[in-house]
Amino acid sequence: MENRSVYPIFASMEPRGAKERLLSQRGVTLWFTGLSGSGKSTVAVALERRLSAQGHLCRILDGDNVRCGINSDLGFSETDRRENIRRIAEVCKLFTSTGIITIAAFVSPTRELRRMASDIIGRDDFVEIYVSTPLEECERRDVKGLYAKARRGDIADFTGISAPFEAPEAPDIEIDTTNAAVDECVRRIMEKLAPRIAFAAEND
Ligand code: ADX
Repeated sequence: MENRSVYPIFASMEPRGAKERLLSQRGVTLWFTGLSGSGKSTVAVALERRLSAQGHLCRILDGDNVRCGINSDLGFSETDRRENIRRIAEVCKLFTSTGIITIAAFVSPTRELRRMASDIIGRDDFVEIYVSTPLEECERRDVKGLYAKARRGDIADFTGISAPFEAPEAPDIEIDTTNAAVDECVRRIMEKLAPRIAFAAEND
């Protein structure tokens, strides 16, 4: 519930446009969704590297590190996943409104969770990237050994095995890392992203 006894000082703060002018880029959140092991973090890191090399300021938020810090009190129940995504979306909104290219890589398994994220961040600042690598491939990779544990029943509510994943209906970008090289995925994202992040002084 909104706290009516708190009055934020937005009016006196430097506006977003001034920060974007400083950085010569437009802020945006790139929201990666997909199964564990689908390649979200790998592509996110490569994308950040490419953007940084072009002089852009980025920030990655990723399931494994956020869950060790700000969300270390949360597990994988429906309620906890919702709170996980809610907090992350609020953080993304702060970064995005600072003009930063914010790259969020979370399973975010349901349409409802992703809609909540997009509502918090703002539709215009939310680009949905679906990493659609199929379950069989994620499980074959099993980089963290979690699928094997989930199959044995050692992890409950594991997305794709014992908890649902709903594919986005109309993602802005879809990539399947089964056969596409990371560089190719980055190239496709950059193609869509370039006009979105370009800073044009006349639109300021
Ligand atoms: S989300 O569902 O709340 O969006 P998030 O992206 O933060 O998930 O965390 C997912 C990561 O946590 C996975 O990549 C995996 O390493 C780990 N993990 C541990 N338990 C689970 C589980 N039950 N379901 C999914 N991922 C899990």
